[in-house]
Amino acid sequence: MFRYVECIDAGSEYCPCYLAEHGECIICSQLKGKEFCDCLNWSGTCIYQEYLWNNEKGKKPRQFVKCRILSKQYIREDVFILKIKVPKSMARILDNIGAYVFLRKNNDDVVFSTPISVAESDSLAGVIKVMIKVNGIKTKAIDECSDFISVKGPYLNGIQGQRFIRDVNNGKMLFLIRGTAGISALMAAKKCIKDNEIDVLIDKGRHEKNFLEDYFSEVGCAVNRLSFLDEKGLSDEGKYKIKEYIKNKQYDVALSAGNDGFHSQIINYINKIDGGIKFATVNNSIICCGEGICGSCTLSGISNSSIKSCKQQYNPMELFLKADDSDKICCKKDEECKL
Ligand code: FES
Repeated sequence: MFRYVECIDAGSEYCPCYLAEHGECIICSQLKGKEFCDCLNWSGTCIYQEYLWNNEKGKKPRQFVKCRILSKQYIREDVFILKIKVPKSMARILDNIGAYVFLRKNNDDVVFSTPISVAESDSLAGVIKVMIKVNGIKTKAIDECSDFISVKGPYLNGIQGQRFIRDVNNGKMLFLIRGTAGISALMAAKKCIKDNEIDVLIDKGRHEKNFLEDYFSEVGCAVNRLSFLDEKGLSDEGKYKIKEYIKNKQYDVALSAGNDGFHSQIINYINKIDGGIKFATVNNSIICCGEGICGSCTLSGISNSSIKSCKQQYNPMELFLKADDSDKICCKKDEECKL
């Protein structure tokens, strides 16, 4: 089973949620039908107590709000950036690692809503910036919006392994980015650059230019271009550069921002070079409801255990490290292990 499970909403204004009402709370054993208290991870408040105080009901879930589009800028014919005016309370929470929102065209059915990572959030002005790549019916509908758009949020599970990023202080991080998935890493870079050194290895993927390169440089990261993959997997150039970086610096965390195949290549390769590096990954699961209800984001772990990756945090090594290396997931002694 997954050893590291944390609910991203635990202790927030949206906790307890629908799951508690239906005996499926991720953290609270009593709201999972057990008779004893055995909190998986203490989040600072007693979820069971909150549930009782709330008349044995879940808190009001997030709702769509109609928001004004302040600007729309195409950076390629199929990629554009939207600046959206949102409630300040929403923008404040979205100014965090892993932030994303659901967007849909006003008056479209809720099935058109799609999760989009937040690249920037100005909590004073109440403005968020998102980058959208048009590649399907939902994003085409968003592309048709010019004045207003429906926004639902805030959601924060866009990056897995957030605990490992947050735990680093005055440390070193290596971001490995391929394609537009890197947009989720941008917020993490902004949040961490004040206290940490961040090196970014960036691959344009299947595009002519990686338009994220300049954003990471502006944030203050040291950016280097390369081509990570070839037809066999990690390219010689990719392996060489990753090894050079790791040999020269003692990184605390590596953040992989690409697809799941990319995460797997990166984690297995880096772990062989330095078993002490922790990993974070951008969340590529198919997120549909974002509330732990529909099950579209369910991931299976060892021994048929499963988690809903829209709400639950896991250690990316538990999912991507190959079976023969899985005994190396934890680099601490058993008694120190919090996973
Ligand atoms: S997206 Fe519906 S359960 Fe995760």
